[in-house]
Formats: sequence, C-alpha cells, structure tokens
Amino acid sequence: LVGIKKIGVAGAGAMGRGIAQLFAQSGHEVSIYDAVPAATTAAVEFIALMFERGVEKGRLTRAQADEYIASVNACTDLTQLANCDLVVEAIVEDVDIKRQLFAQLEDIVGPDCILASNTSSLTIAEIAAGCRQAERVAGLHFFNPVPLMKLVEVISAVRTNETTVVSLVDLVNGTGHHAVVAADQPGFLVNHAGRGLYTEGLRILEEQVASVEDVDTVMREAVGFRMGPFELLDLTGLDVSARVMESIYNQFQQEPRFRPSSLVGPRVAAGLFGRKTGAGWYRYLNGERQLASKPPIPSLPPGLRLWVDPEADQCSELRQLGVSAGLSEVAQPSEADLVLIQPWGDDASYFCAKRALPAEKTVAIDPLPGLDKHRTAMLTVATTPSARDAAHALMSCDGIGVTIINDSPGFITQRVLATIVNIAAELAQRGIAAVTDIENAVHLGLGYPGGPLGIGDAIGPARVELILQRMQALLGDPRYRPSRWISRRVGLALPLVHIEAPR
Ligand SMILES: NC(=O)c1ccc[n+]([C@@H]2O[C@H](COP(=O)([O-])OP(=O)(O)OC[C@H]3O[C@@H](n4cnc5c(N)ncnc54)[C@H](O)[C@@H]3O)[C@@H](O)[C@H]2O)c1
Repeated sequence: LVGIKKIGVAGAGAMGRGIAQLFAQSGHEVSIYDAVPAATTAAVEFIALMFERGVEKGRLTRAQADEYIASVNACTDLTQLANCDLVVEAIVEDVDIKRQLFAQLEDIVGPDCILASNTSSLTIAEIAAGCRQAERVAGLHFFNPVPLMKLVEVISAVRTNETTVVSLVDLVNGTGHHAVVAADQPGFLVNHAGRGLYTEGLRILEEQVASVEDVDTVMREAVGFRMGPFELLDLTGLDVSARVMESIYNQFQQEPRFRPSSLVGPRVAAGLFGRKTGAGWYRYLNGERQLASKPPIPSLPPGLRLWVDPEADQCSELRQLGVSAGLSEVAQPSEADLVLIQPWGDDASYFCAKRALPAEKTVAIDPLPGLDKHRTAMLTVATTPSARDAAHALMSCDGIGVTIINDSPGFITQRVLATIVNIAAELAQRGIAAVTDIENAVHLGLGYPGGPLGIGDAIGPARVELILQRMQALLGDPRYRPSRWISRRVGLALPLVHIEAPR
C-alpha cells in the first residue's frame, strides 16, 4: 500500500480547487499547479477564503485554518510535483492534452507515485495509454462541489493494479468522504446509474403523457426524489447533459436503454440550457423558477356513483375514500359514473379493453407509492371530462395532492423507477460495481431515496419485471427488456440485492 501524504493537483479550476481543499483539510500537504499561473493563485486564495469562512462559522479553530492554509502550496512549474505520492489531474476534458500531461508527469514523479484523473467522460485506459507504468493510473472521480459531495468513485481501469485501487479507497475514506470502486466503463457508476431518470422522463414527455412540471412533481412528491428530471437538467445545463447523453449512448454501442431524446437537440440549439441562461424546461426570473398557476380543483358532482375494481391493490382504501366523500357504490361498472382501476405496467385504455370496462368513465389510480402520498390519476383515451373531474375531486378530497396524466403503461412512477432498477441490475450483472457500492453510490451520490436495487425490492422484484415486460410489449421498445439479473432472481424468489456466491 502507498501511504499517501503529499498530493499534487494539476488543474486549478472548479474541481481542482475543491480537491485541493478536501485533501488539505484532511491533513495532507497539497501542491496545486495550473497551466495558467493566475488560475493557481486564484485557487489558493479561494481555498484560504473557504478556511477563513470555516473559522467565522465556528467549524474550524484559528490554528486549524492556519495549518490547512499553510499546507497548500502554489506551484509555478509542473516539476514542483516531483515529491508527490499522488497527483490528481483535473484539467480540461481533452484526451490529447490529458495524455500529454500524464506523459510529462511520469518523467517528473517517482516510480511509486499514483496518477489519477478526475475525468467524467473519457476512459481511464485511453488517458493511461501513453504511460509507461499504466498500472499506477486510475480514475478518482469527484463531484461538484467537492467538499460537500461525499461520494468519490475510484476507477479501476483494465491495467490498474490492486495496490493503486486500495490506496485510493483508503485515502478517500480517510478524508471523511465515501469511496466506491467502479470499472472503467462509460459514465462509471453514478453517471451510468443516473441515466434512467433523464431518459424515461424525456420519453414520458415525448409521448405527451404529462407536462415537465407534472413529471417533476410526481418524482419529488410521490417518490421522494430531491428533484425531478427536468429540474435536474435545468440545474446541470442541457448543453452539458446533452453531450453526456450522446456520449454514454454511443460508448455503449447504441444500447436502446440509453437512447437520447429528439426533444433535446432543438432546445440546445435554441440556447435553452436551464438556470444559467434564464430559460430551460422552466423559465427563471432573478434565479426564481416561474411556475404556471394551477387550475382550481373541481368539486364533486352530487349523486356520483362509484365502482372500484375489486382487483385493485388499494380497493378498500379507494372505496373508503368514496364513502367518506359521500359517494354511492354500485355493483356493476356499467352502472357507475366513475370507475377506478389500478394497473401495474398496463396503460388504462388497454386495461379497459382487456377487462371490457367502460373506458369513458374510467380513471386509473397509480398504486405506487401508496395512497398516503401524492397521487397520480391517469386517463384512458376515451375518459370524459366529467369522469376526469370527478376523479380529480375525489382523489383530492382529503387534501393530498393529485396529478392528472394521459395514458401510459406504468404511469410516471412505475416507468421511471422500473427503468432505474433495470439499469442498476445491468450495472451489477456486468460487474461494473459491487451491489453495495451501487446502492451507496446512487443513494449518496445521486441523492435518491434509496439504493436502486433496494427500491426494486421494495416495489417487489416480480412486479418490477412485470412492469418492464408490459412496457416492452405495449411500447414495442427493446429499451424496456428486463435484465436477466432481475428475471433470474424473480424465478428463484430472491431479492434483487442478492449476490451469487463466487465461482
Ligand atoms: N465541473 C464538474 O462538475 C466536474 C465534475 C466531475 C469531473 N469533472 C472533470 O474535472 C476536470 C476539470 O473540470 P473543471 O470543471 O474543474 O474545469 P475548469 O475549466 O474549471 O478547470 C480546468 C483548469 O485546467 C487548467 N488546464 C488546462 N490545461 C492544462 C494543462 N495542460 N496543465 C495544467 N492545467 C491545465 C485550466 O487553466 C483550468 O484552470 C475535467 O476533466 C472534467 O471533466 C468536472
């Protein structure tokens, strides 16, 4: 194992300065270098300012801040990184320039020094290709802002040796951040696992199932995500995200699961990047998102007759809701003014056709995540405005929020969550990362309410497989084919987090 004390940081931009700050505050001696000397100076001043703020806010003592500030050295020449045990590269995202820097570094540092790249979109192998000692080259992928984003990916490339990986994992965990190990595959772990939310959100929009705001609201309020896909795209910038979507899709040889949306190109061309340009999926005024005012909730028409599908998951709760709202129940759907169903994976129109239900009076209520959270009511293509308004009024009558959407296999929640679970299952199947690392990385790094396979286990593995199979059948798109990781476990009634014994 390499005991890492002295750390060099090449590139003093947004990432380099954060990386230098993190290592300084965890007791390392840090040397920072940038090709532009003014950038190095600005970074050192910025880091000192961060430590001064720490003192002001009572997070650091004066002595600690002085010690940390003194441990950061500004370098004017790359050769000043000669004594480092590790050099982290955080320069411009250009493979030729990175390769050139790594070749220069190999001539400067000692034979045991680890060389790591913070690249997001290049493979570590292509950066290491020009190195004499590629076994000491790895990825060390931080997220922005580095001191706050606790997850760090350690990327083990095809020629990286175990000592390098273990040393980096130890180093990261010693800073108080959390290391996960991922293979040198497109998007590594976090950016790969994060694909599902964007691709499925965009697909839902393409199919005119729901508005941007409705998709975001459902993912936040019903599922517990911090942000919906469109809010996230506006935060990251669609120009940046569009490149990532294209590159991951192409690096995975046009795998349909990652197919980007045709909605993105025209918006990038029009400069609708998001918050930074004042307009993206939403409009922003002085940094404030502008939301359209909501139409009032309709009131329940008197004498409404309700029929709830006895096979619905929450049949008794839905009937109870009807009783509390003063609705009368009928024995046959044909006698009702409002028919409620709860399909898994099917769209409402198909479900009505299959079960010979009156589609014009039918509204589907998403059984996920349960009626105590924000609810989604989905219309068939024949649902009348009066049945829609009656369902809206009934589902809102106890004060819980309701989103009305058009017909889609799997509503919003089932579609997006099943896609996320499926992508995580493939990550595990391909051995890109260990199950515990996948779970931790997605929870910590992406801020999802849980690990993706755990989310799948909470829904039920068989149900996740069924949602995917039905989406595949109804939409005819191979992107929804269930991973064998899921199907094998469903067949043997095992949880999705189940790991097979080593060979
Ligand atoms: N910004 C992010 O959110 C983020 C997140 C994870 C990873 N990354 C990756 O981190 C790296 C840096 O990104 P950033 O956002 O900090 O960029 P940045 O543009 O803020 O900073 C890059 C710095 O590198 C310097 N530089 C360019 N060529 C150099 C060279 N040959 N030698 C030394 N310095 C050189 C530039 O002068 C600049 O100061 C990229 O590989 C990027 O993909 C960025």
